[in-house]
Amino acid sequence: MQPVYYEDFIEIKNKIWSMLDNAIKDRSSPFRIPVFICGNQDDFDGRIVVLRKSNQSNNLVQYHSDIRSNKIAKLKNNKNASMLFYDKEEKIQVRLKVECIINHDNDITKESWLKTGHMSRKCYLVNNGPGTESFSPTSGLKPELDNFEFTMEQSEAGYKNFTVIQCKIKSIEWLYLAAKGHRRARFDFENNKEHWLVP
Ligand SMILES: Cc1cc2nc3c(=O)[nH]c(=O)nc-3n(C[C@H](O)[C@H](O)[C@H](O)COP(=O)(O)O)c2cc1C
Repeated sequence: MQPVYYEDFIEIKNKIWSMLDNAIKDRSSPFRIPVFICGNQDDFDGRIVVLRKSNQSNNLVQYHSDIRSNKIAKLKNNKNASMLFYDKEEKIQVRLKVECIINHDNDITKESWLKTGHMSRKCYLVNNGPGTESFSPTSGLKPELDNFEFTMEQSEAGYKNFTVIQCKIKSIEWLYLAAKGHRRARFDFENNKEHWLVP
């Protein structure tokens, strides 16, 4: 028997948002760690990020980053990016085309920083930004920081580097693998159109 979302646009959208919403809470969900791809015509790359928020009512997903990471400069040049998800068990691939908003030291970052725990704050305490070359292998942190010997108060120093990337979804492409026949669909939110595609 095929699932309800096999050939139904509304059910497909429900399924996609239930998977995105679940990924925020479920650390083992494959949708929790999508590939985020951005860049310019002759220089683009992908990296894994952790999905931190999803909101169907304003078509938005978001993740956290360090303001000094290479992707920020790229996004400042070109706010258009793409996100790629795959759940092997569900046999579902989701590709998002998004437009990014970089949030730094504003109400959005304040709200997310408050929810960022002691362990996760460590990433934002590195002296030199992600991607900085080093003479020797390094985490970028002093040993005491690596060993979590810092208080919650000391972790506040990381806030100046903390960034929330909001990704406004322009379109979603869905691919479902099934023995009876794969199904593929595209949802364009800019003109509110839905299409079936040959998988
Ligand atoms: C499991 C996993 C989760 C990650 N989560 C994030 C994240 O949420 N945000 C982020 O900026 N980088 C995250 N990274 C690191 C990125 O993949 C990447 O190495 C880093 O952002 C620097 O790349 P860039 O400067 O080109 O963006 C994660 C890596 C892994 C393996």
